[in-house]
Amino acid sequence: MKYKRLFSTYGLKGKTLKNRFVMAPMTRSRSSQPGDIPNALMAEYYGQRTSAGLIITEATQISLQGKGYAKTPGIYTPEQIEGWKLVTNEVHEQGGKIFLQLWHVGRVSSSKVNGLQPIAPSPITAKETNVYIFDGAPNGDATFVPVEDPREMTYEDIEQVINEFVEGAKNAIEAGFDGVEIHGANGYLIDQFLRSNANKRTDEYGSCKENRVRLLMEITQLVSEAIGKEKVGVRLSPFIKFKDMDDPEILDTIMLSAKKLNTLDIAYLHLCETDWDDAPEIPLLFRKTLRLRFGNAIIATGNKTPDEGELLLKENLVDLIGFGRNFLTNPDYPQRVELNAPLNEISDSHTLFGGGDKRGYTDYPTIKEDK
Ligand SMILES: Cc1cc2nc3c(=O)[nH]c(=O)nc-3n(C[C@H](O)[C@H](O)[C@H](O)COP(=O)(O)O)c2cc1C
Repeated sequence: MKYKRLFSTYGLKGKTLKNRFVMAPMTRSRSSQPGDIPNALMAEYYGQRTSAGLIITEATQISLQGKGYAKTPGIYTPEQIEGWKLVTNEVHEQGGKIFLQLWHVGRVSSSKVNGLQPIAPSPITAKETNVYIFDGAPNGDATFVPVEDPREMTYEDIEQVINEFVEGAKNAIEAGFDGVEIHGANGYLIDQFLRSNANKRTDEYGSCKENRVRLLMEITQLVSEAIGKEKVGVRLSPFIKFKDMDDPEILDTIMLSAKKLNTLDIAYLHLCETDWDDAPEIPLLFRKTLRLRFGNAIIATGNKTPDEGELLLKENLVDLIGFGRNFLTNPDYPQRVELNAPLNEISDSHTLFGGGDKRGYTDYPTIKEDK
């Protein structure tokens, strides 16, 4: 068999994954309104994609303040917990495993989305960064609006955010998830703390990389204590610079994070290597060093082909391979890889974010349904 490693099982801290394919987290903005509540359509979508060894949900806000885009789901109200139960039940019935991605957007937001001024490590607005709302545009399209000026977080804000991550994690377990992924990537709150150009604090949460990793570490430690370290993963994006994320020291900071996360013995570290086509290939030396720093599972996601995935597994540089868009358009992606079958493409980019119906969401066919 050509992809024998991709199709081998993997023991993720006591959970057996049936293959090494991970469905990467993807925001689809289809929660029910008002209240950002997961629903039966979302359960159908995730249930269709249980061909993946592990599914990681779309980013899910831990509070209203942590929300940056319209119609993304939350994990902080009883109704949201009930809604997520539809998703976890469906995925488990289909034999899948699913982690929830816990999200706080920090400065990447607007009062037009949640009625609140954004918060951030420092009062610095992200340049050239937009979020979206749905304000009745034709076709139900999203309307993009610039992010608003954030206010600097106080100690009380930091404590509150840490508590919200912990509560979100506990709620996720109550909703039936197998674990949580802490979103520390892509320019959102935790990433803003990690980067020197967004974090100008002079207290113990800023001014040097040892301090800039503090929020990530405190959140991860307390979440691990609350739900069990074997149920916790962290996502980081070392080479991504969008949303005004620049920092000459970031690779050292990421390595320091990896080393410290290793001491917490969490289940995995997930590298977001690209969001779309927007980051360089990760250098081999970085991968090798990361492997030495972090002993548990490493997931690599971003423009991966099965060939590249198989090679990364063969060279023992990572343990699991994440695929985003291929799972979005192919619910049975692993089977298509196995049979070398053609892949569905994105049918209509207007249906990526938002839209309440099946179109461009649950109507991508499996091989069996192909015409
Ligand atoms: C529609 C869409 C939504 C995404 N939303 C998220 C998200 O909610 N959280 C996250 O960490 N990454 C998000 N990403 C990034 C993906 O997880 C992944 O890194 C990216 O799609 C690259 O992988 P691919 O080339 O296999 O698609 C999103 C990507 C896409 C295409």
